[in-house]
Amino acid sequence: MPNKNKSFNIQQRRYIGSKYKLMPWIKKLLLENTQGTSFFDVFAGTGSVTEEMLDSYDTFYINDFLYSNEIIFNAFFSNESYSESKLTKYKDEFNSIQKRQYDDSYFSDNFGNKYFSMHDAEVIGEIRERIHLSQDINKREKSILIASLIYSADSIANTVGHYDAYRKIKGIENKFNFRLIKTIDTEGKNIHIYRSDANELVSKISADIVFLDPPYNSRQYSRFYHILEDLAEWNKPELFGIALKPKPENMSDYSRTKAPEVFDDLVQNINAKYIAVTYNNTYEGAKSSSSRNKITHEQILESLNKVGKTQVFNKGYRFFNAGNTNLNNHSETLFITEV
Ligand SMILES: C[S@@+](CC[C@H](N)C(=O)[O-])C[C@H]1O[C@@H](n2cnc3c(N)ncnc32)[C@H](O)[C@@H]1O
Repeated sequence: MPNKNKSFNIQQRRYIGSKYKLMPWIKKLLLENTQGTSFFDVFAGTGSVTEEMLDSYDTFYINDFLYSNEIIFNAFFSNESYSESKLTKYKDEFNSIQKRQYDDSYFSDNFGNKYFSMHDAEVIGEIRERIHLSQDINKREKSILIASLIYSADSIANTVGHYDAYRKIKGIENKFNFRLIKTIDTEGKNIHIYRSDANELVSKISADIVFLDPPYNSRQYSRFYHILEDLAEWNKPELFGIALKPKPENMSDYSRTKAPEVFDDLVQNINAKYIAVTYNNTYEGAKSSSSRNKITHEQILESLNKVGKTQVFNKGYRFFNAGNTNLNNHSETLFITEV
């Protein structure tokens, strides 16, 4: 059981494609094969890559097109100051909530007895509404409270780690406890945070090292993490289907058949000294079409070789396939191009 008072570190999330465990390998290769002072994490996801590279550069550009990830980046990395005592006051208040007072029943009507127990869903909705109504917090404090709610809810959700489905069980236990995130010291660093489509953003930014970790199969992140998006945005959209998803938004071209073209366009528009790409290597082995790679390694190399000279590194690793009890052997490839 997690310690009830312990704060969440940035990588304490179940997130498909998180590179946290691969970072010792990636970081070593980046430091050995590139040089520079600025780093652009274009598909930043959890932010774990930026966190691990933080001591190596002065300037960071951090981007992902999901609302929840942008809030999480602001919460962990922003330079804006915040009051620890104010956050603790909110944490104590939130942990004493027993029933809804300000919120309507949107969150519990939709997600109670499904993704969370009914009681936990009521408390989560109530906390989100109170954050929405609060007047005495700055943007950083608001981001920290929402990110903390996202981590706290995600850590106890009745799922296999994403929100494509919930576990069909009766009598879901009440488990929710509001825990704060542990912010990251970014003093002295220049931090720029974006929520943009990667292809629209790259031409506007120039950085020494541009790091690309796009989705590699047809599973759409905005569909897998829709409840976290609901909590981040809090505009209570109409929901559909058994998994209770909103209308599609932020559907990635990297998860579609046009991925090779979109990737090529991205690479051609990057302003960098080095481009690093990490991509999963399941093209041959994947059984289901949804888990098959969208871009082949040959296509990645072809795009990269148009802009510079590329080195290729491979690493075998084992990963847990959500919803499936098999541990599969997969490998990751890191491409580093000197432009
Ligand atoms: C493989 S994950 C990145 C994981 C990340 N490196 C980490 O360690 O957590 C890919 C990310 O790209 C984001 N994404 C997908 N398509 C995008 C697009 N067109 N523009 C910006 N972000 C996108 C997804 O939301 C997802 O977080």
